[in-house]
Amino acid sequence: MIIKHSLGAYGIHVYSKDALLNELPDSSFIITDQTVRRMLSAQISESIPLLALEPGEQSKTLEAFGRCHEWLVSRGANRKSTLVALGGGVIGDLVGFVAATYMRGVPFIQIPSTLLAQVDSSVGGKVGIDLGQVKNLVGAFHAPTEVRLSVELLQYLPERQFINGMAEVWKYGAIMDAALFEILEKCPISPGSPELGDVIHRCIGLKAQVVEADEFETNGLRAILNFGHTVGHAIESLTGYGPVLHGEAIAIGMAVESKIGEMLGLTEKGTYERLCSALNNQKLPITHPICRDVDAMVENMKRDKKAAKRELTFSLLTEIGQCKLLGGVDEKAVRAALMDL
Ligand SMILES: NC(=O)c1ccc[n+]([C@@H]2O[C@H](COP(=O)([O-])OP(=O)(O)OC[C@H]3O[C@@H](n4cnc5c(N)ncnc54)[C@H](O)[C@@H]3O)[C@@H](O)[C@H]2O)c1
Ligand SMILES: [Zn+2]
Repeated sequence: MIIKHSLGAYGIHVYSKDALLNELPDSSFIITDQTVRRMLSAQISESIPLLALEPGEQSKTLEAFGRCHEWLVSRGANRKSTLVALGGGVIGDLVGFVAATYMRGVPFIQIPSTLLAQVDSSVGGKVGIDLGQVKNLVGAFHAPTEVRLSVELLQYLPERQFINGMAEVWKYGAIMDAALFEILEKCPISPGSPELGDVIHRCIGLKAQVVEADEFETNGLRAILNFGHTVGHAIESLTGYGPVLHGEAIAIGMAVESKIGEMLGLTEKGTYERLCSALNNQKLPITHPICRDVDAMVENMKRDKKAAKRELTFSLLTEIGQCKLLGGVDEKAVRAALMDL
């Protein structure tokens, strides 16, 4: 699959685990995390410089960003060098941002190793880091030159991390692909499922359609990907990032937002029930105690960095497989939906 962007295009290529790091460009520099380095120790060649950071969100910081730049300078990386982001969404976002800024920009290859990174963060060119408690505050658009995918890596993921990525898969079905949603309802996907590779490709194809139509998030089309995210981001923020994983937070967000949609008369009746049953079967949560703190939730959503003029904006379903962006949503409906969980 080829993804087009304003400065060119990049391919999504499928690899076996053993071939994943073969034939990297000359002067490649791998940045990964310690968990992924251990997992791929047999495939990593000692001849390629490699930096392994602490796993998790704690590495999406200015400090880690600076450390990567200093390491690249000390190892002689130049403008013709290629960075290789080997890991989950944290490594992809961080290394992508390092690549966007090192010597005013060098190429980088994404090798996403979590389901979330394969279906979402490795495609679309958004890169960046957190600043204090504010997620993704500092960043850029910098497309990779290639994305290398290996479904084999997903069998090493802890179950909770796999399910976390499945939340984004359900989201694609819910907002733009009713047939995908039905496939997922009929056939639960696990790391060993023969359908997993096709499902990942289908999700990447859907994301590609959206980001090609709104690469820099300027015409509102890309915002449909935020279904579940207005509420989800508030949950992540109010619980202090960590206890509730991103996919878990957006699963709850999708449930709440489908209820908001039904209350507004925009979402077909029965959608909330159907979505909750699907998310339940996937062992994803559909509510959280913090949702009962309605004042804090609503205030947080109004402060979201994407909320224009403190307006509540949601990507809401009209039915499974279709959605619509809605600004200026009446706060009463949001409060009612949160209280009715
Ligand atoms: N740029 C975007 O468009 C975009 C989109 C969605 C999310 N994100 C970002 O992605 C990040 C979350 O990504 P994530 O969920 O991949 O988290 P992550 O990168 O922290 O990975 C989760 C955990 O899994 C481990 N891991 C990675 N691959 C593994 C494997 N194959 N087997 C076993 N363990 C493995 C990691 O070491 C880590 O501990 C967030 O920072 C979020 O903001 C970015
Ligand atoms: Zn998301």
